[in-house]
Amino acid sequence: MAVNPFRTSVRRLATSAARAATSAYTSTPQEMTDYHVQVSKAQGVADSLTGAIGNTPLIRLPHLSAQTGCTILGKAEFQNPGGSVKDRAALYVVRDAEERGLLKPGGTVVEGTAGNTGIGLAHVCRARGYKLVIYMPNTQSQGKVDLLRLLGAEVYPVPAVAWENPENYNWQAKRHAERVAKEDPERGAVWTNQFDNTANRRAHIETTGPEIWTQTEGKLDAFTCSTGTGGTLAGVTRYLKDVSGGKVKCFLADPPGSVLYSYVTSGGKLTERQGGSITEGIGQGRVTDNLKGEVAEVDGAVHISDEKSIEMVYRCLHEEGLYLGASSALNVVAAKEVAERLGPNHTVVTILCDGAYRYADRLFSEKWLQSKGLREAIPKHLEKYIVLP
Ligand SMILES: Cc1ncc(COP(=O)(O)O)c(C=O)c1O
Repeated sequence: MAVNPFRTSVRRLATSAARAATSAYTSTPQEMTDYHVQVSKAQGVADSLTGAIGNTPLIRLPHLSAQTGCTILGKAEFQNPGGSVKDRAALYVVRDAEERGLLKPGGTVVEGTAGNTGIGLAHVCRARGYKLVIYMPNTQSQGKVDLLRLLGAEVYPVPAVAWENPENYNWQAKRHAERVAKEDPERGAVWTNQFDNTANRRAHIETTGPEIWTQTEGKLDAFTCSTGTGGTLAGVTRYLKDVSGGKVKCFLADPPGSVLYSYVTSGGKLTERQGGSITEGIGQGRVTDNLKGEVAEVDGAVHISDEKSIEMVYRCLHEEGLYLGASSALNVVAAKEVAERLGPNHTVVTILCDGAYRYADRLFSEKWLQSKGLREAIPKHLEKYIVLP
């Protein structure tokens, strides 16, 4: 894909803005103004919604940094227009289809997803004039179906069956796209296939990775995040390994019910998938094409229990003012554990994938916490945040 000159200049300008940022919030009003002016200059005007995807802030987490003696930084992906890290992948898989000539004006995008990718695609498709069709397992909440319909998507909830079954929602999405492409070749249709379409990983090689490197001025020791499709972990790992000559250590963060922790720590053995997690959007039963090239490059893996993730949802809110979903909280726990492994004076970066808004009715509900056996994981002084029955 051609280098976007707008992004390149953003990266260059972002470096000087980042330099100014070191002093911005500890110094004079004039320095603060200078910092804001530099960031605004770097951002310029986004030519449409898709131009506003990416270039998210990198936020220091002061309490966890003090606790570990390290600098722990979270990439604020909840600030993307669609509210999650998946906006980046959504834009790249659509652009990829355009570049391959599969989508023409008014064409149809089809994807199998119950979560953030659908939301990202809905925004991107509206902004670029495509129709969006979403297949999802019928076990998903009505809220998710309603939200996607509200964003203009045609939604098909279908029986929840295994990946190997031809009636799995992903294969139904694939067949739908093939059908429409045949019936309407003028406009075209594409199954964007987020799990195995490596345009997803490319989004993070070309944007997330360079942004992290620029924002830290190359001064980072480690990166960690969890995987759904694996696009974020693989793409950021690829970029950081290349640009640092292998110096930056990269770690997979894995929830219960995923096979990747044991895959990495056993040196490549795939085990049977067992159990589950409260985290949404992450955890994997196989090595996707997005992960294939890079999974061998990661330096290790951390396994994070649901107890630790839910506690961190509450801690991030109370201590850092960050209202995060469970996958982001899991990533923050992983960053803390990686920092503890490395010892003081290291910089560890992770991904704050999305906010808690779509999960609040569960994460902050007394009944839900009890039903998941997680009520005891919330420390006494944080119980005041359990505001829902
Ligand atoms: C909330 C959330 N966190 C993390 C991820 C994982 O990102 P990736 O698919 O790049 O591995 C997803 C993916 O859908 C997600 O929805």
